[in-house]
Amino acid sequence: MLQCLILELEMVFSWLNLLAKFGFSDITGIDYSPSAIQLSGSVIEKEGLSNIKLKVEDFLNLSTQLSGFHICIDKGTFDAISLNPDNAIEKRKQYVKSLSRVLKVKGFFLITSCNWTKEELLNEFSEGFELFEELPTPKFSFGGRSGNSVAALVFKNVRLFLGQIQGVDHTWPFPRTAPPQG
Ligand SMILES: C[S@@+](CC[C@H](N)C(=O)[O-])C[C@H]1O[C@@H](n2cnc3c(N)ncnc32)[C@H](O)[C@@H]1O
Repeated sequence: MLQCLILELEMVFSWLNLLAKFGFSDITGIDYSPSAIQLSGSVIEKEGLSNIKLKVEDFLNLSTQLSGFHICIDKGTFDAISLNPDNAIEKRKQYVKSLSRVLKVKGFFLITSCNWTKEELLNEFSEGFELFEELPTPKFSFGGRSGNSVAALVFKNVRLFLGQIQGVDHTWPFPRTAPPQG
């Protein structure tokens, strides 16, 4: 069964058709705000969507049941965490650790950010993730220069392979019990 973790509940309905097309039937949406979950729950009920589980969860301090996802989708949660005035650098590092924990090796992470450029996101997720694809977003021009107001990237979780290449165990939370032979 293909599993998907969604960190962006307001957009969940636009993703559903796409996810269903690719065979995702096990979808979990999380937010640390009980009222966000309550609101999403009432919309899901109204729309008759039975295949989404909703959970109040802090992504920076996840319960152990959340793991093994093929895809994790975020629009705005990494941004919100980045803007936290209380030790945002440490919180961003914790976000990357949580992401490694919930995603399967070779799982995909889709992030849409209004706060960070493509280059900044590549830097934030350089440890254990590689860019798979950049999604098209609206462009704008100002003062003779052009850029994107939003960055939308797809990363692949490659932590197992990094560990093999560098001879370092980057495979947490699935550490190897013995080093590879040969
Ligand atoms: C900017 S909103 C984005 C909402 C929606 N995805 C959208 O595009 O409109 C950020 C959301 O992240 C949630 N959030 C912030 N920090 C979180 C954390 N540590 N764990 C789980 N959710 C968090 C907030 O409660 C909020 O609902």
